Amino acid sequence: MDIKADITRAGIKKEEIDKLKSRIDDEYRKLRSGKIDMTGWVNLPFAYSESELAHIIDAAAEIKKKCSILIVIGIGGSYLGTRAVTEAIGARGSIGLPEQERDGSLASWINDGVNIIFAGNNFSAAYHLRILREFLGNDVCLCVVSKSGETMETKAAFAMLKAALETKYSEEEVKERIYVITGKSGSLRREAEAEGYKVFDIGEDVGGRYSVLTAAGLLPIAASGPNIKEFIVGAKDASEIAEEDPSFFDYAAVRYLLGQKKTAEVFEYYEPQLSYFAEWLKQLFGESEGKDGKGIFPVSLSMSADLHSMGQFLQEGRQCFFETVLNVVSPTHDFKVPSSAGEPLAGMSMNCLNNAAMNAVMRAHEKSGVPIIKIDIPELTPYYMGQLMYFFEINCAVCCGLSGINAFNQPGVENYKKEMKKLL
Ligand code: PA5
Repeated sequence: MDIKADITRAGIKKEEIDKLKSRIDDEYRKLRSGKIDMTGWVNLPFAYSESELAHIIDAAAEIKKKCSILIVIGIGGSYLGTRAVTEAIGARGSIGLPEQERDGSLASWINDGVNIIFAGNNFSAAYHLRILREFLGNDVCLCVVSKSGETMETKAAFAMLKAALETKYSEEEVKERIYVITGKSGSLRREAEAEGYKVFDIGEDVGGRYSVLTAAGLLPIAASGPNIKEFIVGAKDASEIAEEDPSFFDYAAVRYLLGQKKTAEVFEYYEPQLSYFAEWLKQLFGESEGKDGKGIFPVSLSMSADLHSMGQFLQEGRQCFFETVLNVVSPTHDFKVPSSAGEPLAGMSMNCLNNAAMNAVMRAHEKSGVPIIKIDIPELTPYYMGQLMYFFEINCAVCCGLSGINAFNQPGVENYKKEMKKLL
């Protein structure tokens, strides 16, 4: 079984999709041609350099030996891919705020990785000061990820955490504990080269939100435990399906057609471990598509929690949206509800309840006319995360192409940065 979009509840006729087929094929061929700027990610899964991969795997093994905590410093595309994967597959660690989230984390599912803490994804002093407590009693390494090397959140957090590292280790040891993943130029590249840190490249023709298959995602993911070769093979298999099976792009087609009538896409997940995958999706679509006054506003809801709040809006509120349900077909864990829960819950499998909730919601919403796309994800493993991410990346790029949008720039992001620099 592969990742599949079930479009039977989307309210779109087959003929409408068929009419788009040749345009979709053109967009896809353009992406594969290598002639469009910033599409280096398209060919990554099957053109990965073996030596680069070996270098990443060796560094991950080294990190695992050296430390119990890896602090991954980065934001946006230099952060969300790693967090999406590590949380989805329950890799060891993947901790946002230390202590606060650790107890409830999925920490022990994969045991041979380091714990990951994410930093540099905000300007909060409280958030970063709490991370300092992790330096007590733990061996720490830093992995700083920034393609430009100039992002303010990343620079501020790196400077602060490096200073903390310097109070704990000798000058030589500090150098050994810092891993830098960056582009060809910028102050981070210069600093890394001057200081002698281990440096990995983010390809010049790959933008942040498409960079999870570069060292930006692969190194921290590998350090946290998962087998990144399986992750790459998943993406490669998805690229082969894209070549052979036109239904791979049904999602792009339906989404494009629904976007003519609806202004928002609600990503819904029933496994909370997909929450950061949904964040990654929001970035992928929001930053790729939201320009020239166009785009479908991406939002996400965690089910069933949000049924008890936003469920009302979905059922009876302004019908400006369609839903994209992320359905995990075979979840990793299950248990039977003890009899004390009473009927009808007693003895039921938790997964069965979760599935019933999802089907009930789809049925109720379909009846009220909400278009629904269901994405079937066989399992949350490195292999299927590779398939899934490539599936969404390429469908997103094709969908943007259909709307005449350049999916690979983000000119609007610069405006707040300019204003902030003026204020500073
Ligand atoms: O997708 C993108 O390009 C952005 O989200 C960037 O990844 C983000 O702004 C961080 O940039 P950088 O990697 O240069 O620090």
